[in-house]
Amino acid sequence: MSDIERTEFQLPEDLPLTRAPEAPVDAHQHPGEQDAETSLRPRSLQEFIGQPKVRDQLSLVLTGARKRGVVPDHVLLSGPPGLGKTTMAMIIAQELGTSLRMTSGPALERAGDLAAMLSNLMEGDVLFIDEIHRIARPAEEMLYMAMEDFRIDVIVGKGPGATSIPLEIPPFTLVGATTRSGMLTGPLRDRFGFTAQMEFYGSDDLTRVVTRAAAILDVPIDVDAAVEIASRSRGTPRIANRLLRRVRDFAEVNSDGHIDLAAAQGALAIFDVDELGLDRLDRAVLEALIKGHGGGPVGVGSLAIAVGEESATVEEVCEPYLVRAGLVARTGRGRVATAAAWHHLGLTPPEGTLGLF
Ligand SMILES: Nc1ncnc2c1ncn2[C@@H]1O[C@H](COP(=O)(O)OP(=O)(O)OP(=O)(O)O)[C@@H](O)[C@H]1O
Ligand SMILES: [Mg+2]
Repeated sequence: MSDIERTEFQLPEDLPLTRAPEAPVDAHQHPGEQDAETSLRPRSLQEFIGQPKVRDQLSLVLTGARKRGVVPDHVLLSGPPGLGKTTMAMIIAQELGTSLRMTSGPALERAGDLAAMLSNLMEGDVLFIDEIHRIARPAEEMLYMAMEDFRIDVIVGKGPGATSIPLEIPPFTLVGATTRSGMLTGPLRDRFGFTAQMEFYGSDDLTRVVTRAAAILDVPIDVDAAVEIASRSRGTPRIANRLLRRVRDFAEVNSDGHIDLAAAQGALAIFDVDELGLDRLDRAVLEALIKGHGGGPVGVGSLAIAVGEESATVEEVCEPYLVRAGLVARTGRGRVATAAAWHHLGLTPPEGTLGLF
C-alpha cells in the first residue's frame, strides 16, 4: 500500500447523505468509516470475493497488456455504492505494480486541476477518478485528448495573446468509477476500452465477505450467524461489513463477544434491519406505495414526500435494492409494488398485482 498516493481526494459534498448518518443499511460511506474500510479491503484480484465476470475480464485486460509491454486500456467501473469500485481501482494498480493517484470528479473543477494531476503522472501510473460523471466540462474535454493521445494542450495567457502549448503525458491508465453511468457523456464513455459493471453480490459471496472480515477483525463467528448477516446486507459488501461491526458490539456487550445466530438476530432487530435487509426507510417506502397508493403506479416524487425524504435518496438509496429484491418494479407510469412486497408487509395482494400467479 505504500505506493498508493492520495492526492486531492475528496468526497463529493452533495452525496445523498440525508438519511440518518448511522443507518446501517445505507450503502454510502459514512463519515469516519474510512479507516474501518481500509483494513478490510482485499488487496489483490485473488483476494477479491465475488464479481467473477469482472475479475475474469479485468485479469485478461491486465495480463494481455503486461504481455505486450504496454499500459492497459482505460477502465470504467460502474455500479451502486459499496460494491467495491474503489477497492478494484486500488487492486488494478497493485496488480500492475504501479502507483495509484486518486482524485474525484468534483475536485476537477477547472481544466488546470486536471492538467496538474496529469503532468505529475509517471509512466504506467493508474489515475483513479471517482465519481467521474461529475467532472466539469473543460476538464472533461482535456481528459478526452489525454486518454486518446497522451497529450494535452495547456492554454497560457488570456484573450488574443493566449497560446496553447502542447504537453506530452506519459502513458497511463485511467480508472474511472461511477454510480451513475447513465450520466456519463457519450464521448467520455467511448474512450474507455473496457467497462466493468459491478453487480449486487449473492448471499454465498457475501457470507465469504463477512467470514473474511470477521477473521481480520479477530471476531469469532458461527457459520449460521455469518449467513444471517450476509442475507440481510442488501447485496453490498460495505453493508455486510458494517452490520458485522454492529453485531460485534452487541455480542461484546451482551456476552463474551462470540457471534452466534442469536447475537446476529438480536443486533439486527435493534438496528431495525429486517429479514430481507430492509430498514425503516425502505419499509416506509413500501408502506407509502401499498397503503398510501394501493400498490401504485406512483411517481418517486410522491413516495419521497410521503416518507419525508428527498427524491434522490429514495431513488438512489432505497430503490435499487427494492427493485433487485423483486419488491418494486419500475414502469412507464411510476413505481409498482409486486406481490412479494404485499406479502412482506403481511398483506394480501389484490387481483392483478405484478408477480401474482
Ligand atoms: N469483493 C469484495 N470482497 C471483500 N470486501 C469487499 C469487496 N468489495 C468491497 N468490499 C468491502 O466493501 C467496502 C466498500 O468498498 P468500496 O469502497 O470499494 O466501494 P465503492 O464501490 O467504491 O463505493 P462508493 O461508490 O461508495 O465509492 C470496502 O471497505 C471493502 O472492504
Ligand atoms: Mg468508492
